[in-house]
Parts: sequence; C-alpha cells; structure tokens
Amino acid sequence: MMSKKEEIDFQSHWEKAWETSPVEKTGWYEQIPAPSLELIESCQLDKKAVILNVGAGATTLVDELVDTGYDKIIANDISASALEALKKRLGKNSHKVTFVVDDLVHPAVLTEAGPVDLWHDRAVLHFFNKKEEQDAYFKLLRKLVKPGGYVIIAVFNLQGATKCSGLPVFRYDQGMLAERLGEDFKLIKAFDYTYTMPSGDTREYIYTLFKRHK
Ligand SMILES: C[S@@+](CC[C@H](N)C(=O)[O-])C[C@H]1O[C@@H](n2cnc3c(N)ncnc32)[C@H](O)[C@@H]1O
Repeated sequence: MMSKKEEIDFQSHWEKAWETSPVEKTGWYEQIPAPSLELIESCQLDKKAVILNVGAGATTLVDELVDTGYDKIIANDISASALEALKKRLGKNSHKVTFVVDDLVHPAVLTEAGPVDLWHDRAVLHFFNKKEEQDAYFKLLRKLVKPGGYVIIAVFNLQGATKCSGLPVFRYDQGMLAERLGEDFKLIKAFDYTYTMPSGDTREYIYTLFKRHK
C-alpha cells in the first residue's frame, strides 16, 4: 500500500501531461474517434440530447459531435489545461459546449450536470484502481444518466497494457462493466479494439455500449 507521501497527485499529473505535450502527440490522441462515433450513431440520439464526455481531455470527439449538430455537450476533465486546449480548437463553436473542470471521483459541480442522455468515457475509468474511486465513479454515473439514456465506456481490456500515461490501470471485460453498472443497465454492444498511438505502439481496448432501462 502507498503511504500518504507516495500517493499520486492526479490533478498535477494530468495538468503536466497536457501542458508538456502537444495534443496530437498524446498517447491517446485520435484524429477520428471512429469506434466512439460508430456507437454514438447507433444510439440515434436527438440532436438536443445532453452528451456528457467525462475525462474528455482535448478529444476530437467533441469537434465531431458539434459538426454532427449536437449543441448540448458537456466536456469534463480534471485538467483545466486540457479543456482550454479543446475550447481554443473549437473556436466559434465552443459555445455549444459546457466545460466543467471537476474530479469524477470527488465531484463538486458535476453532480448537478444531469439528467444526461449519453455518458461517454474513453480511457478514464481505468485510472481508478481503488474500489472507493470506482464506487464514486459509478455512483455519479447512476445519478446523472437518465432512464432510457446510454453509457459508452471504452477502457483497456484484460489483455491490455498495465499502464497508461505512466499510471497503473485497472482493466475490464464486458462482464465486469455490466456488473459494476448493475441490473438497470442492459449491454447493447461490446467489441475489442486495437488503438494505434501516435508513436506507432498499440493499445488494446474494450468498447461497450449500455442502455439504462430504469
Ligand atoms: C488517457 S486521457 C483520455 C482523454 C480523452 N477521453 C480521449 O479519449 O482522448 C484521460 C483523461 O482523463 C482525465 N482524468 C483523469 N482523472 C480524472 C478524474 N478523476 N476526473 C476527471 N478527469 C480525469 C485526464 O485529465 C485525461 O484528460
């Protein structure tokens, strides 16, 4: 177990990660976030749907959603620098996005962000290694996602790497995610996906889509 002194300061880690690397060189950058777009398209959401992208960083998914016509997008991250980079890139379209700097594990303002039609997480949940962090994440998700709403979670799969951005990760399969979400959520789709990083290295993900039925 880590002593208090050795505990990772996640906010500093992520601010540093975003401040020291150009967005296109980060180890999770996607020019086109194809698997997320495929799953979102299959939800057939109304263009007025509230889409909450947790741990969004400076993801190009937000640009794609804006281009598709969504204008109730919430981009959350623990790093203000990441969201500033995203806002800058969106330029005149940034008014279609609400930027929320908050910690998913100790949410201060996110608790008021609901009800949401779609919760989207790519490469965030797997950083929460402790049970209490995972419990806080799923508690927030259950508070915010409305009945009839959707959840997309993409994380490293059980064959995946054990670290991401230099931090240890907790890996999942679809059964583990279904169990954590509970019986109110029905698995609609799941697939493994090999992501190629800007460096050329690959990372194994599992993509899952759930629908909340009550
Ligand atoms: C690997 S990056 C993925 C970024 C984005 N989802 C994507 O797919 O490009 C992980 C992101 O989660 C954010 N993050 C990490 N811990 C967080 C927390 N506790 N609350 C909110 N965001 C967090 C980081 O700042 C970072 O932007």
